[in-house]
Amino acid sequence: RELTGEVEFENVDFGYNPDKIVLHDINMYAKPGQKIAFVGSTGAGKTTITNLINRFYDIQDGKIRYDNINIGKIKKPDLRRSLGIVLQDTHLFTGTVMDNIRYGKLDATDEECIKAAKLANAHDFIKRLPDGYNTVLTGDGANLSQGQRQLLAIARAAVADPPALILDEATSSIDTRTEAMVSKGMDALMAGRTSFVIAHRLSTVKDADCIMVMEQGRIIERGTHDQLIDMKGRYYQLYTG
Ligand code: CTP
Ligand code: MG
Repeated sequence: RELTGEVEFENVDFGYNPDKIVLHDINMYAKPGQKIAFVGSTGAGKTTITNLINRFYDIQDGKIRYDNINIGKIKKPDLRRSLGIVLQDTHLFTGTVMDNIRYGKLDATDEECIKAAKLANAHDFIKRLPDGYNTVLTGDGANLSQGQRQLLAIARAAVADPPALILDEATSSIDTRTEAMVSKGMDALMAGRTSFVIAHRLSTVKDADCIMVMEQGRIIERGTHDQLIDMKGRYYQLYTG
């Protein structure tokens, strides 16, 4: 069954340790194709929510549904295949650039991988590597810049062509030009897919359909950028402060 990318959380409580709840009563609904952004200070629970969208952990209470299916009932590997993830530190393995992209969909052809790299805005830098797509990466891609690793992560997610995505924006400094390349690739990847974005730069969340402002494991405000600015609450503080 093809998933559309509809995601719903209903009254979700979660703790990594059941004695210490870190997410409280999370409710949210993402229509297929929407962009949902999470903002909030460190430890607020942004990464934890995305870990649950991935179903990396069991929840203590509540429901998480994909297309109205309670995903507690789906075998995790099936679900994983339906999501694309671009993490801050993507794991690249020793092997060619092509194989590292193909990891997003193991039976992808070379043509599909190249198409994904083009969408991700990664094709140009790959072509300039000593052996292009056949360049062998050292473990963890140490012979690439951080921005290049991110572009490969975007290409890897694109080749899987998932209905939903999780993007964890890098905090560490990449130069402005690389940052522009990465965000162009991410925009292309997000088009037409439900996207959950952990944003560290408020400038990148402005166009989200819904921004979730988190604090101490709760969603304390939500809305579009303009709505949240008008509210003159926490988001306004973060944005103007
Ligand atoms: N936490 C935990 N065990 C983990 C990971 C996190 O107990 N394995 C706790 C943290 O101590 C924190 C809460 O869960 O109190 C939320 O953490 P997290 O979701 O990682 O916060 P973020 O909002 O992602 O923080 P950051 O901006 O620093 O990434
Ligand atoms: Mg985090």
